[in-house]
Amino acid sequence: MKLSDLKIIISGGAQGMGRHFATRLAEAGAQVAIGDVNEAGLAETVSLAKGEGKIHARKLDVSNEADVASFVEWAHGAMGGLNGLINNAGILRDGLLVKKDRETGAIKTLTKEQWDAVIAVNLTGATLLVRDTVKKIAETGAKPGVVVNMSSIARHGNRGQSNYSAAKAALAANTKTWSQEFAPFGVRVACVAPGMIETPMTQGMNQKARDALVAAIPVGRVGVPEDIWLAVKFCLECDYFNGRTIDVDGGLSM
Ligand SMILES: NC(=O)c1ccc[n+]([C@@H]2O[C@H](COP(=O)([O-])OP(=O)(O)OC[C@H]3O[C@@H](n4cnc5c(N)ncnc54)[C@H](O)[C@@H]3O)[C@@H](O)[C@H]2O)c1
Repeated sequence: MKLSDLKIIISGGAQGMGRHFATRLAEAGAQVAIGDVNEAGLAETVSLAKGEGKIHARKLDVSNEADVASFVEWAHGAMGGLNGLINNAGILRDGLLVKKDRETGAIKTLTKEQWDAVIAVNLTGATLLVRDTVKKIAETGAKPGVVVNMSSIARHGNRGQSNYSAAKAALAANTKTWSQEFAPFGVRVACVAPGMIETPMTQGMNQKARDALVAAIPVGRVGVPEDIWLAVKFCLECDYFNGRTIDVDGGLSM
């Protein structure tokens, strides 16, 4: 598919990778509809648009079913059609499932709130957005269509990320499920699993943990959003890529 033919939703477009993908797609001539809980960030992304395409923005909480449905309807109207989704919004609430407190020796656990928050956004929200986007594509017959899910290298399992790993593994698994289910509608589904990328999500990490992680990356540096854009662009453009996940992590094993 040509990037300039895309009318595409990007969730989590107010900063980080979502913002980078939106500006790259607008440069390439695409119509882009970004949604995020951060309205100030959305406006800033819109102001960065250059080129033939356009970035439209509206507040969106992917974990709210009604919000997702009305966002998809709005995006379809704003862009004059809809044929794609970059399913990118995500959050972290890291913690060991069971741990011993260093000071008191007490045994502590990951809270259900930490678990529920990540599953609500990274799995349920991401799934609702795929469902409603593909429903609209199927209703309007706008084929070919494409969905790119944002997983993570943590999909293979990572200490301190039970909630995040579970959600990101499920997204990679359902990339295959949905590629099979959506074939009759002419919709491909692909997935990108980044390693450690320089965005607001990782900028808050403590320096010691960060240094240890960077030391484990064979290419010797943290990734940047452009590294991940190259994979997303491939997923969008290659009409024979379907149902699979690409790990883009500099060779990092966590
Ligand atoms: N940065 C990394 O190292 C890394 C690595 C692997 C995977 N990822 C994944 O890539 C995606 C983008 O990550 P990023 O690093 O750009 O993160 P980020 O925190 O910089 O951006 C995520 C965006 O999602 C938005 N968001 C959060 N909850 C939302 C909700 N309920 N509804 C709508 N929007 C919501 C945030 O407001 C934010 O703008 C995420 O899915 C993340 O899990 C990131």
